[in-house]
Amino acid sequence: MTDQSAAGDHTVRPSAKLKVRLRAATEREASTLADLHRAAFGAISWDAASMGKMLSIPGTEAMLALCGEGGEQKMPCGMVMGRLLGTDGEILTLAVPPAFRRRGIGSRLLSSLMAGMAMQGAERIFLEVAADNAAAIALYERLRFEIMGKRPKYYASGRDDPVDALLMVHQFNCGCGG
Ligand SMILES: CC(C)(COP(=O)(O)OP(=O)(O)OC[C@H]1O[C@@H](n2cnc3c(N)ncnc32)[C@H](O)[C@@H]1OP(=O)(O)O)[C@@H](O)C(=O)NCCC(=O)NCCS
Repeated sequence: MTDQSAAGDHTVRPSAKLKVRLRAATEREASTLADLHRAAFGAISWDAASMGKMLSIPGTEAMLALCGEGGEQKMPCGMVMGRLLGTDGEILTLAVPPAFRRRGIGSRLLSSLMAGMAMQGAERIFLEVAADNAAAIALYERLRFEIMGKRPKYYASGRDDPVDALLMVHQFNCGCGG
């Protein structure tokens, strides 16, 4: 089975019995990651070559969510990629295809990547998100990311009107509860 076919049909609505498992993704799975990214982001997605290039940079890690019913979870249904440099982590991208959304997959992927970074010494994790991306901002706020700045008109490609980026940060051991 090629990486492409392994990414499955993300237009089929999965049943409520879906089970999800997470695992680390390797550079060899760049096209599976790209398929998931395209299903989630459409025209502004990253291709397999870009995914592979990102993953080849030291400190970069990706995780895959695999979905299925019963005992086997084989259908790729979400991905996250991040990078840790010293004590600063960065979330590079997070993608869940529409058919798999609102099942906690995005939160699980992000929490898991963040926990791994924390174990490797991360003190803070940064990310950028389009100011009009209410779904992602809500998810990030639930995971205790706070808005710390704005980059005006940062997202321009593939859009008629450029959109601001919000810069968000999650601090470990900040003494702010939770
Ligand atoms: C953002 C994204 C990753 C969320 O994935 P997901 O698996 O649906 O997220 P979860 O099910 O873990 O949602 C967790 C919480 O986030 C918030 N949330 C998620 N989607 C939301 C939406 N469409 N509207 C409002 N709140 C939303 C909710 O608080 C949700 O909890 P709830 O379902 O109990 O209400 C997904 O919508 C996606 O891939 N979007 C396109 C790509 C993108 O924007 N990526 C992030 C920017 S890089």
